[in-house]
Amino acid sequence: MGRTTRHVPHREHGGLALVSGQRSGRLEKYLARAALMSAFVLRNLWCGRRLRPFPTFLYGGTSVGPLSRSDIKHVERLYASINGGSPLDLRKKAALWLHAPRLGIGVRDAATGELIGMSLYYFNARDRREGTVHEGYIGLDASLRGAGLGTVVRRHALRQFAFAGLRGVSSRISLANTASLNGNLKLGFVPVDTYFDPSMGEQRHYLVCDLQPYRPYRLCASDEQERPKS
Ligand SMILES: CC(C)(COP(=O)(O)OP(=O)(O)OC[C@H]1O[C@@H](n2cnc3c(N)ncnc32)[C@H](O)[C@@H]1OP(=O)(O)O)[C@@H](O)C(=O)NCCC(=O)NCCS
Repeated sequence: MGRTTRHVPHREHGGLALVSGQRSGRLEKYLARAALMSAFVLRNLWCGRRLRPFPTFLYGGTSVGPLSRSDIKHVERLYASINGGSPLDLRKKAALWLHAPRLGIGVRDAATGELIGMSLYYFNARDRREGTVHEGYIGLDASLRGAGLGTVVRRHALRQFAFAGLRGVSSRISLANTASLNGNLKLGFVPVDTYFDPSMGEQRHYLVCDLQPYRPYRLCASDEQERPKS
């Protein structure tokens, strides 16, 4: 006998159970997401409190320095323009809202002040356990890439986080993104896990940079002024 599919009215007992089961499943997922987000906010509020705002310095025609809460709309616009229209996700936005000058670096055109690059950081549960902070994103306007600016911005962050006493910086990078991956490998990041991300359809590395080599430096207003601690 062939199988038949029929619409089950909500009034029927089985249908009601199915619908309420689906509803409670959705509710559970929603509550789990809300709990994760609340934990993220509390963790970042707590871990970010001991950081200091990033210092500002000039590099070529750009100014590299802290982001502020009022930059969030510019960050969203730039992120979308670099990533084919994708919106900035809630965690990056929340971290900026909580601690923009401590967790966000902005690259601006020194003449006009326009935001043309950024690097965003936050604390995941694994970072809290391992004494690291996560490089959640770095992106530069296409006209600025390949000239060393990405390395300068990342190094600025590594020195700042070393100065704050963190053990390391973590990041996740697709193996196909050679510009980003090579940049971090050169700065001392080491792959500790390699996995397939089904949502991106890509092989990725989880990397950690030990901040010990960045520790002897004091933070100064400019890269050139940095001196080893006496
Ligand atoms: C990732 C990014 C920030 C790197 O910044 P950048 O200024 O272009 O990088 P740098 O010039 O400092 O290059 C660092 C190293 O990466 C490597 N690299 C840079 N561009 C590369 C490219 N197109 N292909 C392969 N390797 C490259 C080089 O080894 C380089 O060091 P070297 O020039 O001394 O050999 C920038 O390319 C970018 O904004 N990309 C788009 C957004 C993105 O993919 N973000 C990363 C998400 S995880």
